[in-house]
Amino acid sequence: MPSNQLITIERHIADQEHMHSEASGKFSRLLRDLMLAVRVIQREVRRAGLSDIFGMAGGKENIHGEMVKKLDVLSNDTIIRAMRYGGHLCAMASEESFGLIPIPDDAEKGSYVLLFDPLDGSSNIEVNAPIGTIFSVLHRVTPDNGSEGTMRDLLQPGYRQVAAGYALYGSSTVLVYTSGDGVDVFTYDHTLGEFLLSARGLRIPKRGRYYSINEGNAVNWYPGTRRYMEHLKSNDKASGRPYSLRYIGTAVADIHRTLLHGGIFLYPSDRKSPNGKLRLMYEVNPLAMLIEQAGGTATDGRGRVLDVVPTDVHQRAPIICGSSDDVAEAMKFLAEDIEAIEAERIAK
Ligand code: AHG
Ligand code: MN
Ligand code: MN
Repeated sequence: MPSNQLITIERHIADQEHMHSEASGKFSRLLRDLMLAVRVIQREVRRAGLSDIFGMAGGKENIHGEMVKKLDVLSNDTIIRAMRYGGHLCAMASEESFGLIPIPDDAEKGSYVLLFDPLDGSSNIEVNAPIGTIFSVLHRVTPDNGSEGTMRDLLQPGYRQVAAGYALYGSSTVLVYTSGDGVDVFTYDHTLGEFLLSARGLRIPKRGRYYSINEGNAVNWYPGTRRYMEHLKSNDKASGRPYSLRYIGTAVADIHRTLLHGGIFLYPSDRKSPNGKLRLMYEVNPLAMLIEQAGGTATDGRGRVLDVVPTDVHQRAPIICGSSDDVAEAMKFLAEDIEAIEAERIAK
């Protein structure tokens, strides 16, 4: 629903916090610091073509063995620098850092943990396609007594997220955010340097007309995925088939379109990538929370992805998400994949 209220994201988050009795103001400060990091990253993204910022960061590889781009490093450093002295976090984790990112010894340790993908869609940097930043906030589970956070604080299932969101650096910069009370969208005004509320209580359509998957992986698909894709491409005027394919290759951008227009996004389990590609804790979980909060569904092909109990901050998880009717239909086909995976496991 478009908003006719002129309000900044900081004010909106502070107002929301006041509605909760245990509000300490710490949560608003956490989000305010994160928004500063996002503003810095978006500035660097916007001038990336002007400065000598393109290209690889000295041939360094990240923990996934991928080449790290300068903007990945810069975005990662920016978020860490903006957050570590805020007094609201006890630990962080990022796609671009190994394991737990500690809060410095001389900094106050707070009640929350932050997990993030500093720059999502890095392969799209050079081609001027949308990229983004994804984040997930959880309450710590170890005693909130000023001590350092631990892996236990980070390794929590997605349903425990207290807030999640992404910034999308597209034709405009938007911030899509939930704290468990629906999804709100903010658009960045460069002249003011502020995110302004542009849509409140975003709802995903029950069914869409788009599907979004890397078709280049078709050779590795299990039979159910294959049959579902054939189904979406077959004629049936009544249900709007064939669907149109949209795939940007930046998860935040593909999810953003799915949230606004409906349809389905899949990075499923296949023979080459049994756990899909996307990372559970800082890609799948925050995106799944947003989809659910907008009235959609997010599964890993077996069940609700937000229920998955993580064992590694960098683990991957399959994701099938979007409009509830589309995901329900997909699940009927994908049940066959679960059987195929099981049969192949037994045959080995
Ligand atoms: P990142 O740039 O953070 O490594 O993430 C890239 C991800 C995600 O954004 C996108 O959905 C996916 O990679 C695309 O993967 P394929 O190129 O295998 O389709
Ligand atoms: Mn990513
Ligand atoms: Mn990334």
